[in-house]
Amino acid sequence: MTNSISAPFTSDRLLLFGATGDLSRRMLLPSLCALDAEGLLDPKIEIVGTARSDHDDAEFRNFARESLEQFLPAERRGGMARFLNRLSYQTLDANQMEGFNALAAKVGEPKDGLSIFLSTAPSLFEPTIRGLQASGLAGDNVRIGLEKPLGVDLASSKVINDAVARAFPEDRIFRIDHYLGKETVQNLLALRFANLMFEPLWNAAHIDHVQITVAETVGLESRVAYYDDSGALRDMVQNHMLQLLALVAMEPPVSYDATSVRDEKVKILRSLRKVSTNETVTGQYRAGAIGGQAVPGYDDELGRDSNTETFVAIKAHIDNWRWQGVPFYLRTGKRLPKRTTEIVVQFRDVPHSIFHGRGARTVPNRLVIGIQPSENITLSLMAKVPGLDRNGFGLRSIPLDIAMPDAFAGPQRRIAYERLLLDLIEGEQTLFVRRDEVEAQWEWIDAIRAEWEGQAQEPRTYTAGSWGPSAAIALAERDGVTWHE
Ligand code: BG6
Repeated sequence: MTNSISAPFTSDRLLLFGATGDLSRRMLLPSLCALDAEGLLDPKIEIVGTARSDHDDAEFRNFARESLEQFLPAERRGGMARFLNRLSYQTLDANQMEGFNALAAKVGEPKDGLSIFLSTAPSLFEPTIRGLQASGLAGDNVRIGLEKPLGVDLASSKVINDAVARAFPEDRIFRIDHYLGKETVQNLLALRFANLMFEPLWNAAHIDHVQITVAETVGLESRVAYYDDSGALRDMVQNHMLQLLALVAMEPPVSYDATSVRDEKVKILRSLRKVSTNETVTGQYRAGAIGGQAVPGYDDELGRDSNTETFVAIKAHIDNWRWQGVPFYLRTGKRLPKRTTEIVVQFRDVPHSIFHGRGARTVPNRLVIGIQPSENITLSLMAKVPGLDRNGFGLRSIPLDIAMPDAFAGPQRRIAYERLLLDLIEGEQTLFVRRDEVEAQWEWIDAIRAEWEGQAQEPRTYTAGSWGPSAAIALAERDGVTWHE
């Protein structure tokens, strides 16, 4: 992909669209305050919030203070007063062009550069970009971060990407997938490419299959309209799960930089085989219980019937040399029994067991990479059961377990957005998604949805607190695979 390369700069202004929204309250303001508390936010940086709701600076600072008190642990709030002093606010209706001049006046002239963080409804992307351009807020020293949803399919994402591209070159566009900001996701690269022992085995000759699970216990939360239009496939698979898959499956990049890493990820995304109907299962939760607590069904939460899937399981294939014949089983859902994100790499069995004649069975090695909430790397290994072997040779699979919080007790655990906001401010693109990646992701997802529509496939029901419809278990079991739980 060809880019014009802009000169590097660190921003001294940050402009947050959607500043009074849920993401800002839970993630963005807490992340910025935490960075500030540690001296990681340049003292020059001023932060302007904007949204449609009417507030003055003082009211916005109050809103921010309440958000910090609710979502940032007290020990990370040192210097909160200084942080709040950086904040100001400008009301803006993005559909009214004239409002952008007042916004530009509020932002003022940055000394070094401006970073914009856009977290708004997809319908506001185009008018917002036009407004930024018209008011001089899209100059050479401006970069823009874009939060999902960037469209609902390939066509609508192209419209958004084209609109943004008219104002900003690709090297100043930062598409956010917050999973890439997670330390344990970045650790996948370290595990694969800073160790010698995995890479020679990381292929179809030695790996039987891969499982990627992103399970959540939450339901609709307060996002009724968004979620019902989206569903699990677009909300979680199109972005987060495909990024995880790409990091697990990609070839070694030449170096850890934005172009090399993203070049390799996009090759994987383009190698995904079109999924056939019997390789996906969708579900929607019904009333049940999680952790002993009764929870309502999706239709009860929504207040009406709906065909939106809250669970999806997919058997994916990567058509390239390395992964021929290795299925990648993906599953994600709301109201599952526990919150867990993990990647399971199931190796093949030894080619010949010398212990067979002694009555011992080998169990193939398995690598489990826990992304959240437990940050663990567990490698199951075969070991001899201590004893005199009078009744045959005893073998058992035992775990070699690394708990990341124990291995790294010192470093601060961070919100993913801390890393991403800092990288946006400093112009480091490696952990952001390039346009060709997003489009390859949508292309694969659109084909799945077209297949569902063609077959008039409706989600099966599952009880909240279970692991999804039984058909999802069957999807793996008919290949002799059991989901890791
Ligand atoms: C968001 C989805 O992108 O990711 C949500 O829109 C989901 O539906 C969330 O709950 C999960 O993020 P995390 O970081 O809690 O795994």
